[in-house]
Amino acid sequence: MTEFNGKKAIVFGGTSGIGLEIAKLLQLSGAEVVTVSRRGALGDANDGMQNEIADVQDRDALQDLFEKHSGFDFLVNAATGGPRAIGPFLEMDLDGFQNSFAKLWGYVNTVRLGAPQMAADGAVVLISGYPARKWRPGVLAIGTVGNAVEGFVKLAANEIKPIRINAVCPGLIDTPMFALQGEERAQHFSNTTKDHLIPRAGKPEEVAPAALFLLENQFVTGTIVDVDGGAILA
Ligand SMILES: NC(=O)c1ccc[n+]([C@@H]2O[C@H](COP(=O)([O-])OP(=O)(O)OC[C@H]3O[C@@H](n4cnc5c(N)ncnc54)[C@H](OP(=O)(O)O)[C@@H]3O)[C@@H](O)[C@H]2O)c1
Repeated sequence: MTEFNGKKAIVFGGTSGIGLEIAKLLQLSGAEVVTVSRRGALGDANDGMQNEIADVQDRDALQDLFEKHSGFDFLVNAATGGPRAIGPFLEMDLDGFQNSFAKLWGYVNTVRLGAPQMAADGAVVLISGYPARKWRPGVLAIGTVGNAVEGFVKLAANEIKPIRINAVCPGLIDTPMFALQGEERAQHFSNTTKDHLIPRAGKPEEVAPAALFLLENQFVTGTIVDVDGGAILA
């Protein structure tokens, strides 16, 4: 198992879904974990972590936060960051499309303001998403944002070295990001994944180890790791 004793990690969006599982795995691996979200810890899953409240769009708050934790080792950003536009492109509200980029701005804010405060052998992990490289009905805006996230990772790797930066690209993952409940939720996951090579929604616990691999392995930067149940190949 990965050993992160003595390492300090800041996990944006570490109170729900994929970010929460990454935060838990980091804690289990011995790291000191700080989560950051707008509402703070939502239950007892974040016990033993330092749970800070901040919005990834609030640059002043981020600057204060990074100064407070200066010298930290790992920056993970799994925050959804804001609203997302879903639907056919030719019917899409263009302000909605543009607002979907809140996720990218949250990522860019944290890397730009966080990297100067990190340990030189530190590492960053961001989360993109399979619509970046696989067309599906209704997700063009999200996919375009995912593309931008992956492009940012590849280009920023040169600018922030020796700090490493990588992304995990999940497929459809069963998290609280989806508001549907009960039979409607099960039906949505089953319909959306029926053509995938592994025809089911993934679990956030199946995504988190990829983030830890990217934080631990000192020979990997500017890379995207797909954990998508074969969604992109479908
Ligand atoms: N689930 C999927 O199928 C899937 C697939 C591909 C990619 N992804 C990507 O994976 C990442 C995590 O998604 P998830 O499914 O784990 O979502 P989630 O369960 O909804 O968790 C989102 C987390 O981000 C925090 N957050 C959202 N906006 C924020 C902001 N402006 N400032 C600070 N924190 C903020 C939330 O806490 P607060 O609300 O309290 O702020 C929460 O902790 C996202 O980037 C998503 O696009 C998800």
